[in-house]
Amino acid sequence: MPRSRTRGGSATGYTPATSPVAARARGLVKEYGSGAGRVTALAGVDLELMRGGFTAIMGPSGSGKSTLMQCLAGLDTATRGDVAIGDTELGDLDDDALTELRRDRLGFVFQAFNLLPTLSALENITLPVEIAGRRVDRAHLDRIVEATGLADRLGHRPGALSGGQQQRVAVARALVARPELVFADEPTGNLDSGAGVRVLDLLRRGVDEWGRTVVMVTHDPRAAAYADRVVFLADGRIVDDLADPTADGVFERMRGLDGHAGPGHDGPDGRVGVEPGAGGRADRGPAGRGPVRDGARGVWR
Ligand SMILES: Nc1ncnc2c1ncn2[C@@H]1O[C@H](COP(=O)(O)OP(=O)(O)OP(=O)(O)O)[C@@H](O)[C@H]1O
Ligand SMILES: [Mg+2]
Repeated sequence: MPRSRTRGGSATGYTPATSPVAARARGLVKEYGSGAGRVTALAGVDLELMRGGFTAIMGPSGSGKSTLMQCLAGLDTATRGDVAIGDTELGDLDDDALTELRRDRLGFVFQAFNLLPTLSALENITLPVEIAGRRVDRAHLDRIVEATGLADRLGHRPGALSGGQQQRVAVARALVARPELVFADEPTGNLDSGAGVRVLDLLRRGVDEWGRTVVMVTHDPRAAAYADRVVFLADGRIVDDLADPTADGVFERMRGLDGHAGPGHDGPDGRVGVEPGAGGRADRGPAGRGPVRDGARGVWR
């Protein structure tokens, strides 16, 4: 299957632009508050995300990761600079058009799953397509459901599923409408290692098999090693950009940024692990060949 499949057969009926750039930020500045209380969350970010890529965003707590993701996804407005999704400049859109763009062209995965508790897992997965008034592509849905390994659990409500299962449902929900971009903010942050690996595998398949573009914020070098590229933020700026990451390579870069992390920000205790043979891109790296060094856990927050 082609690595990047962005045309034809779209469940959404939307024909993506031909631009190879899925999202772009230029001179992005985000300030909160004013006067002495002003916080600069983004201090001038330039970033291009190519279609069919899997990018991890890392950095110390408060470095601007979530703010960057929210500005890229049109969930927040930058103070200065501009953002485009494909060929669409977000600054040209009013609120309704932005809502429509998010609904039709973007998918989201949140740390806290954010499934609707009164709907079944299957209803949760198909909801975005239905809200958009579009027909669910059954064959595509079946492939995604099969990939979640939850075919026999789909009639259950989220409350009857484990956290890891709920997050796989959330990833399936994000993928089913064939969005141009999937944004995931710490999707494994609440999961133990095995559950995290299955979520990362599913995101990876979203890129490799279904041609999606994925952007993921994470604190865990082993999760980041599933990506094709890691962008490092510190103090609201991009300070490093690593291609074909390995867990150890990411860990080394993170150590170099340690001084930027504020006090009292311990990491998530290495809750996402990469198990040898688990199938992620991390298999290429040291993490796939043997135990990850102890120090590679819990550095970020
Ligand atoms: N609504 C807001 N009002 C004021 N300041 C904010 C707001 N949102 C974020 N900030 C500040 O902007 C900076 C960047 O925050 P952001 O949430 O993007 O960081 P982050 O890298 O995602 O951190 P974490 O790893 O802890 O999630 C921080 O200093 C934060 O306190
Ligand atoms: Mg954050």
